[in-house]
Amino acid sequence: MAGADEMLIIQTPEEMQRWARERRREGRRIGFVPTMGYLHAGHLSLVEDARRRSDVVAVSIFVNPTQFGPHEDFSKYPRDEARDLALCRAAGAAAVFLPAPEAMYAPDASVTVDEGRLALGLCGARRLGHFRGVCTVVAKLFNIVLPDVAVFGQKDYQQAAVIRRLVRDLNFPVEVVVAPTCREPDGLAMSSRNVYLSGEERLRALGLSRALQAAADAVADGPADAEAVRRVLRETLEAHALKMDYAEVVDAETLVPVAQAARGHVALVAAYCGKTRLIDNRVL
Ligand code: PAJ
Repeated sequence: MAGADEMLIIQTPEEMQRWARERRREGRRIGFVPTMGYLHAGHLSLVEDARRRSDVVAVSIFVNPTQFGPHEDFSKYPRDEARDLALCRAAGAAAVFLPAPEAMYAPDASVTVDEGRLALGLCGARRLGHFRGVCTVVAKLFNIVLPDVAVFGQKDYQQAAVIRRLVRDLNFPVEVVVAPTCREPDGLAMSSRNVYLSGEERLRALGLSRALQAAADAVADGPADAEAVRRVLRETLEAHALKMDYAEVVDAETLVPVAQAARGHVALVAAYCGKTRLIDNRVL
């Protein structure tokens, strides 16, 4: 067996499944963190969380083409494989699954996975087909990595809700954990896409977390008209010269927009900062 601090780099689904079956046969609990790479402290906090909940952690790094729309940033999505591998090694991952796109999708692949309720609004309405791509790749990754527990970030609140539903409704034997959003000291949610921002845009990007703060303030002393809270979200984004994609207050479980906003509801924003689309959310 490999030494305790050695990290395996695995490139094919078959080899990954073999590794996972061997770990399971040894009675080890497998933790899993799926990513698209260009790792930052937010991703690494998920690896840390997964380590606490398992015996061996696998990280996947795969920029999944099927979750990008035709006019989105798939081809220029940031990549730095060498740095990502060094970070995974330092974070204590036991294996990194790094497949080539050809290894993940047959040219005539014809099965997809759709979530039909939670995925319809918010990012799902703005990025048609996005959650089909996410659900399909996550289902595949679960079948390849065979994890006992998988850790996702609250940064992508809707994604986490959709994946919980995927696991429940298709009976994946996987425990889904959602870990808190890691932020820069000034409040900006960490994201691989932040690298796209110019210096001036980086300052304006603070409008997302500030909008969410303003929404939380608006319900701090009791419920408030949700339309008024949505207006506060919109106005804060505008004050930072961000182009709103959506600004919503929803029920934390169903993701249905609420009429009265209150603590426990979730405010979510998506906005363009220049050409870069950023998202953030906060439980009020
Ligand atoms: P990616 O954007 O690389 O994110 C991988 C995981 O890291 C997701 O669970 C995401 O919510 C989490 N994450 C991102 N930024 C975070 C932050 N600031 N704090 C905490 N967690 C954060 O999400 C995807 O990739 C893909 O859709 C994927 C699930 C891998 C399927 O392709």
